[in-house]
Amino acid sequence: MARVAIVTGGTRGIGEAISLALQKTGLTVAATYAGNAERAEAFAARTGIAVYQWDVADYDACQAGCAKVAADLGDVDIVVNNAGITRDGTILKLSYDDWKAVIDTNLGGCFNMAKAVFPGMRTRKWGRIVNIGSINGQAGQYGQVNYAAAKSGIHGFTKALAQEGARAGVTVNAIAPGYIDTDMVAAVPADVLEKIVAKIPVGRLGQASEIARGVVFLCSEEGGFVTGSTLSINGGQHMY
Ligand code: CAA
Repeated sequence: MARVAIVTGGTRGIGEAISLALQKTGLTVAATYAGNAERAEAFAARTGIAVYQWDVADYDACQAGCAKVAADLGDVDIVVNNAGITRDGTILKLSYDDWKAVIDTNLGGCFNMAKAVFPGMRTRKWGRIVNIGSINGQAGQYGQVNYAAAKSGIHGFTKALAQEGARAGVTVNAIAPGYIDTDMVAAVPADVLEKIVAKIPVGRLGQASEIARGVVFLCSEEGGFVTGSTLSINGGQHMY
């Protein structure tokens, strides 16, 4: 039977590309989404990928959601923690709510999902967790203390959990995308984005499929000796 993978935020942007790429390798994929049901249903109809709505920042919702996926599709062997939001602003303007929403979703979501699936992976002696970090968690970014802190936290979380999973066949890795051609990056003011792209050595934004390719490798059988690593896919913008 095909292994089951959950991709959080898996119906749009980088997550959509990851869901499709994992499906292509023969996995059974479940994609979660936070709010846009119409778009998610259209995605499900187009791709045949099952979609589930829950908020990754909600611990109980992750427990219930992962149990539902397991009941519907089978034991969950792979989780890609991709769901993330931005609430950009300099610290003078950033509210506590902007801080908390980004930390709870981007970093808290990784914890909540791992709590739901890690015990089963350990018991079955096989698992893959891939956390989507960011170049801005490695290098920082003006106007993103919340996002950079959450993404930087993901990189530490990955290395710690990797140590807990290693003996049980559960690998935990991160990918740190640079600026990728998605709605999230399109929301950056054009003049700011232009300056950012000018600093990318390959001279362009990345494609979501270029991140998905890395996820496929980390989730594969052959990726079993790779754990606790961060794969930077950023066009050379930050060499870490
Ligand atoms: N370093 C130093 N100073 C900077 C700066 C920088 N990088 N960027 C701007 N400034 C300065 C400006 O020159 C300006 O100075 P003056 O007032 O003296 O002219 C001052 O800071 C205010 O700048 P803004 O006008 O840009 O301030 P704002 O409040 O209007 O906007 C902002 C702030 C919302 C953070 C805006 O700059 C912005 O959107 N920046 C982009 C943030 C970004 O890259 N987000 C990434 C989103 S995509 C993503 O996160 C995916 C991923 O993983 C990569």
